[in-house]
Amino acid sequence: MISLDKRLSMVASMVRPNHTVCDIGTDHAYLPVYLIQNGIIESAFAGDLREGPLENAKSTVEKCGLEGKVTLKLSPGLEKFDGYNLTDFVIAGMGGNLISDILKDSPWVNKKGNHFVLQPQSHAEDLREYLYNTGFEIIKEKAVKDGKHIYIAIEAQFKEAPNKLPEIPRWKYFVGEMANSESPESKDYLEYIIKRLETRKTALENNNQNSKEAEELKSIIEKIKEESK
Ligand SMILES: C[S@@+](CC[C@H](N)C(=O)[O-])C[C@H]1O[C@@H](n2cnc3c(N)ncnc32)[C@H](O)[C@@H]1O
Repeated sequence: MISLDKRLSMVASMVRPNHTVCDIGTDHAYLPVYLIQNGIIESAFAGDLREGPLENAKSTVEKCGLEGKVTLKLSPGLEKFDGYNLTDFVIAGMGGNLISDILKDSPWVNKKGNHFVLQPQSHAEDLREYLYNTGFEIIKEKAVKDGKHIYIAIEAQFKEAPNKLPEIPRWKYFVGEMANSESPESKDYLEYIIKRLETRKTALENNNQNSKEAEELKSIIEKIKEESK
């Protein structure tokens, strides 16, 4: 039986039960195998860009006797998964920029009701910006601490492509729905974001650089503090 670390357990907890999951950048395929072994889903698709990780995935699937249940593909992003009527996608353990590039490159996933669990390791603000402005709704976010690291995951659903760019305040890109999160560790994430933005603001002020950006950061920080009370 596969056991998951705290980060992947968080991701697994956000998957819709009984929906075939497509795990992009699967590496060892621990997530889809865990989901099937625990009766959360019946079958999965999983892909990776590189041969090595896909071999790792194949080995896990074979060891666990799940060859008939996990379809593995060598695929840049979602490219090779079009045409299978997939509705549920996981992209975990990559930078937020890479995750949004993968989504951008496969606009066929932008179908009403499609479900996404996204776990950015960095640049979550860029990923949220893409989601909010492309017609996705962020349903909820979770955070978990493992050792020194704090990890987050975003559960989103595609609603509809907007006719014009929605007016999303910039602070929302930095925290998304985390202020409403059920995770006890969401507070730590909000504090971490505030600290990061304060460091950037102080650096700009100390160097007498870009006072407009420093002013904007100040109001973003205030808004995040207010929202997280
Ligand atoms: C750090 S691992 C994450 C593995 C697993 N998803 C997790 O969260 O533990 C990132 C994986 O994504 C794969 N990857 C990177 N870019 C990719 C892309 N454009 N399309 C598919 N897979 C990609 C890498 O080869 C690697 O196996």
